[in-house]
Amino acid sequence: MSGLYSPDLARIHAEGYNDTFDEAHDWLAAQILHGPANAHLFDIGCGDGTWLSVAEDRGVMGEGVDLSPAFVEIAQARGLLVKQGNAADIRIPKGTTAITCLGEVLSYIDATTKRDTLLPVARAAFDALPSGGLLFADLIGPRCLPKAPRNTGIDWQMRIEVTVERDLLTRRIETQVGDRFDTVIHQQSRRHPASTKQALEAIGWRCEILDSYGPAGLLRGRFAIKLTKP
Ligand SMILES: C[S@@+](CC[C@H](N)C(=O)[O-])C[C@H]1O[C@@H](n2cnc3c(N)ncnc32)[C@H](O)[C@@H]1O
Repeated sequence: MSGLYSPDLARIHAEGYNDTFDEAHDWLAAQILHGPANAHLFDIGCGDGTWLSVAEDRGVMGEGVDLSPAFVEIAQARGLLVKQGNAADIRIPKGTTAITCLGEVLSYIDATTKRDTLLPVARAAFDALPSGGLLFADLIGPRCLPKAPRNTGIDWQMRIEVTVERDLLTRRIETQVGDRFDTVIHQQSRRHPASTKQALEAIGWRCEILDSYGPAGLLRGRFAIKLTKP
C-alpha cells in the first residue's frame, strides 16, 4: 500500500466523512469566483473529489491531486481530473488562480522530509499564482488534544487513537471491513497560528488566520489560513 489511505480507509472516509466541509462549499466557491478572472481551482489532497465536484457545479472548474492511489481512483471514477502526487513536491498547474487544501492536508508529515508540507506548498503557490491568487487551508492547531473516537457504517467499524507529543500528533487508525482488519498510522504537525502567519508572510503572502470557512466552523482544535498574493 502506498499513500496514507488504504482502499478500505479511503472508502470509509468517502462514506463517513465527506460531508465535513459541506457548509463551506458556497463560501469557498464565492471567494474563488471573486478572485482573479478565469477562475481555476487546484485542490491539493482532494480525497474522493467531493469538493472538486461541488465546485464545478458552482462554476469553478478545476483539478486535483492526492497522495493516495485509492482516493485518486475514486475521484477519477467520478470523471474528475485528478492525479496522484505529493504536496511536498508539488507542481501547480498553469492557469491556477486558487488552491484549496481541505481537511488538514498540509499538516501531514511527509515521509521523506519528515516535516509537514505547508511551507513547500506555500512557496510553490506563491511563485505560480497571479496577483490576487488565493490559497485556503485548515491546519491542526496547538489545542488539538488526545482522544479515542470510534465510528461505524453498514459493514465497517473504525477506531482511532490520537496521541500528542509536543508539536506532533499521531493517529493510529484501525479499520474492520467485514472480517478484514487494517491499521494505518498518520502523523501531523500541531502548528501555532501566530508563528505560521509569520512564516507565510516572510514568503510574501498576505495571511489571514480564520476560525471558520465563512459560515462553516472548523473541527475542534483546528485553524484555517486564507492567503492572498499581493
Ligand atoms: C482528511 S483527508 C481530506 C480529503 C479531502 N480534502 C476532504 O476534505 O474530504 C486528507 C487528505 O490529504 C491527503 N494527503 C495527505 N498528505 C498528502 C501529501 N503529502 N500530498 C498529497 N495529498 C496528501 C490524503 O491522502 C487525504 O486524501
